[in-house]
Amino acid sequence: MDEGIIIAPVGAIADGGVLVVPASTTGTGEDIAVFRSGEAYYALDDMCTHQEALLSRGWVEEGEVVCPLHLARFRLTDGMPTCFPATWPTPTHRVEVRDGSIVLFPGVAAEGAPVLER
Ligand code: FES
Repeated sequence: MDEGIIIAPVGAIADGGVLVVPASTTGTGEDIAVFRSGEAYYALDDMCTHQEALLSRGWVEEGEVVCPLHLARFRLTDGMPTCFPATWPTPTHRVEVRDGSIVLFPGVAAEGAPVLER
């Protein structure tokens, strides 16, 4: 995964929007949700750590994604929960923009984010 996976052209995800990359592509065993906030992109496992809810069905607010089921919030930069009921971080993945494309590095934690055991 050194080169990463090109998932979309820059601009394909609207500000505040999300693109889900399926587990069959990520190779991590999990779907990954790639969020856009402003001009930045962030990738988190597409599963809340509280119960079974897809974070991609939530919404982005002030640099966090809000879980649609019980409204836990996770920081986009490092996957840390910022309020109950979630108490455990969700894995992050590195994302970068290269030559006009959004490139995802599944299984490589975002810079500054904790490396979590799966
Ligand atoms: S399932 Fe996400 S907060 Fe409960």
